[in-house]
Amino acid sequence: LEQARRPSVIWLSFQECTGCTEALTRSNTPSIEGLIFDFISLDYHHTLQAASGAAAEAAREEAMHENAGQYLLLVDGSIPSVKAYSTIAGISNLDMLKDSAAGAAAIIAIGTCAAYGGLPKAAPNPTGAMSVEEIITDRPIVNIPGCPPLPLAITGLIAHYLTMGSMPELDRLGRPLAFYGENIHDRCYRRPFYDRGLFAETFDDEGARRGWCLYKLGCKAPETYNACAQVKWNQGTSFPIQSGHGCIGCSEPNFWDKGGIYDSV
Ligand code: SF4
Ligand code: F3S
Repeated sequence: LEQARRPSVIWLSFQECTGCTEALTRSNTPSIEGLIFDFISLDYHHTLQAASGAAAEAAREEAMHENAGQYLLLVDGSIPSVKAYSTIAGISNLDMLKDSAAGAAAIIAIGTCAAYGGLPKAAPNPTGAMSVEEIITDRPIVNIPGCPPLPLAITGLIAHYLTMGSMPELDRLGRPLAFYGENIHDRCYRRPFYDRGLFAETFDDEGARRGWCLYKLGCKAPETYNACAQVKWNQGTSFPIQSGHGCIGCSEPNFWDKGGIYDSV
């Protein structure tokens, strides 16, 4: 992998919170430094690139021109169908996505906003937020949902693409099976308590203190597919359920409206 030509990567950020980039910077296999210095040429990224203003836009144009048909396009954030809601350098998000996608070899929609619309698409969806695959239909697209996604899912997919030259096997929602093929509930360390009918009823009762199942507190993991229970966060330290709060289904379509805990309690 280290001998391979460093492919050009253009990362577009639209209606997002920078949480996906924050997640990426927590990656340890490979680290963000290893990724951008050894494996890819990150030619455009609002948060990580040194250039700004006209120089930043020139870098995107140059990367698209020099690597036409070969660059990898990464997108985080949803795209407002009402163009005026979000522009970059005077270009609407919608136009920038279409322009950048035209010469891309493949697209990775990072985070639930880019993959399915996410939080900006929640009712009443004032910007008319859309996902990448609702707009681009003529390029291979892989979804890496999560709010934010697991760092390893982002870097793991990029590493797979660089080494294999193709995208991995996906589920029906466009997610790599390697990271989204298993149900969190089936991998949860609290599962024995669920099976025995032992549930926390409030966040501070005896059951919560003893680590019992959080299902009655709205845990959405039985309907959620992600690798949080195996991979965890902060280099394998913990994940939402381990910190005492049920999963809110952040990697599933229709998050937030159908992922919030309060619609089931
Ligand atoms: Fe399943 Fe959630 Fe209970 Fe874990 S806490 S066993 S994922 S319902
Ligand atoms: Fe999201 Fe649930 Fe994992 S809330 S981070 S999919 S445990």
